[in-house]
Amino acid sequence: MSKTATLEYNGEKYEFPVTIGTEDEIAIDIKTLRANSGIITLDPGYKNTGSCESAITYLDGEKGILRYRGYTIEELAEKADFLEVAYLLIFGELPTQSQLDKFHDDIRDQAVVDEEMKKILDSFPKSAHPMGVLASLTSALIAFNPSSVNVSSEEDMYKAIVKLMAKFPVLVAWTLRKKEGLPLDYGDDTLGYVENIAKMMFKRPNKEYKKNDITINALDKLLILHADHEQNCSTSTVRIVGSSHAGLFASISAGISALWGPLHGGANQAVIEMLEGIKADGGDTKKYMAKAKDKNDPFRLMGFGHRVYKNFDPRARIIKKAADDVLGNLGIVDPVLDIAKGLEKEALEDQYFVDRKLYPNVDFYSGIIYRALNIPTEMFTVMFAMGRLPGWIAQWREMRLRNEPIGRPRQVYIGENQRAFVDISKR
Ligand code: CMC
Repeated sequence: MSKTATLEYNGEKYEFPVTIGTEDEIAIDIKTLRANSGIITLDPGYKNTGSCESAITYLDGEKGILRYRGYTIEELAEKADFLEVAYLLIFGELPTQSQLDKFHDDIRDQAVVDEEMKKILDSFPKSAHPMGVLASLTSALIAFNPSSVNVSSEEDMYKAIVKLMAKFPVLVAWTLRKKEGLPLDYGDDTLGYVENIAKMMFKRPNKEYKKNDITINALDKLLILHADHEQNCSTSTVRIVGSSHAGLFASISAGISALWGPLHGGANQAVIEMLEGIKADGGDTKKYMAKAKDKNDPFRLMGFGHRVYKNFDPRARIIKKAADDVLGNLGIVDPVLDIAKGLEKEALEDQYFVDRKLYPNVDFYSGIIYRALNIPTEMFTVMFAMGRLPGWIAQWREMRLRNEPIGRPRQVYIGENQRAFVDISKR
């Protein structure tokens, strides 16, 4: 039996259908609210607002569940590789070997970026933040690939997706190489997708590149863990920009900018800077715990808390273990890892954090692994963007295929009422 919800206001009753998702999530469908009543809803930060129906990612913040297309993040991080997960997210099913081979071959065919793009990169100062460079280069790709995507053609859509999956890792590697003053290079099409990313990033001009399985496995896992997270800030940005029928590359570039902020993907850089700061200050974690709880201090414990996870972030659990494994396997002792573990222990026992259900999130331990892999701190959020790329693409594709309307929230106006213009001589 279909369910309804009733809203009563000013003596009038309004009925709304209730939508129930496949995991029994309940939503009141208010599409007719304004037309029938003249009323709108107010929900800053969209804490209670579902912006779409989506079949890509499911997460339950109370139970700490995260699944891509029905598969648990734990199983995918253990058994799949990043390209398989990208295919799964974008096209909805795990690929057969021949589907995966074709996807990879098509990507290899597109893995060259127009040489002219190097001039754009060249014009950035070395001090530029890599996230700004990456957003700009992604946007610049449009100029070199101007044909708009006909979204009603699966073939057109596929071609645009493959192009982006192919060229984005080159841009990621170039932003790093620019920062490090290394010559720009292309990948090697005999390598796996992630292995190729590692080579493009780490190859030195005077040394033969040697594959390191620990690095590649760690990167694979991190990229998978970041690959999608339903309607977060950057993904919602990608969907809303795309909803104006701006192209795929423009939508992704906007998503990169949204990801950059320290409350979102930029937290991975902020965590390491915070841990380094605590170390330089004598390692007194209690002092920083007190700062985080002090409402007159803007300091927040970076890498803690999440809009949706109110129990634990399953990605953080996997990454914490991976950090131990990677550092152990590489023979690295990083005192910052001990500070992080100390902070986590204190926070989990502290009433302030317990009351607010604040737990370590995906960004708390990821930077420690990136550091162990010799990735500079300013590149951490770029690595997050590399991982999130298939998720953004999948969400953009879903939004366009569902022919969603342009995103355009309403507001409650709280400014001045109409008033007469006052000439400047009389103000
Ligand atoms: N340190 C100290 N207090 C915190 C923290 C923190 N990291 N996070 C939340 N709080 C407090 C906050 O002050 C508020 O307290 P009160 O109820 O007394 O006013 C309460 O907890 C609820 O916080 P909120 O800001 O209303 O929650 P939100 O859902 O709007 O924000 C968040 C979620 C992730 C932005 C926030 O927890 C935060 O700023 N965390 C630090 C930044 C971070 O690690 N971001 C990465 C998020 S996960 C990966 C990603 O999205 O990219």
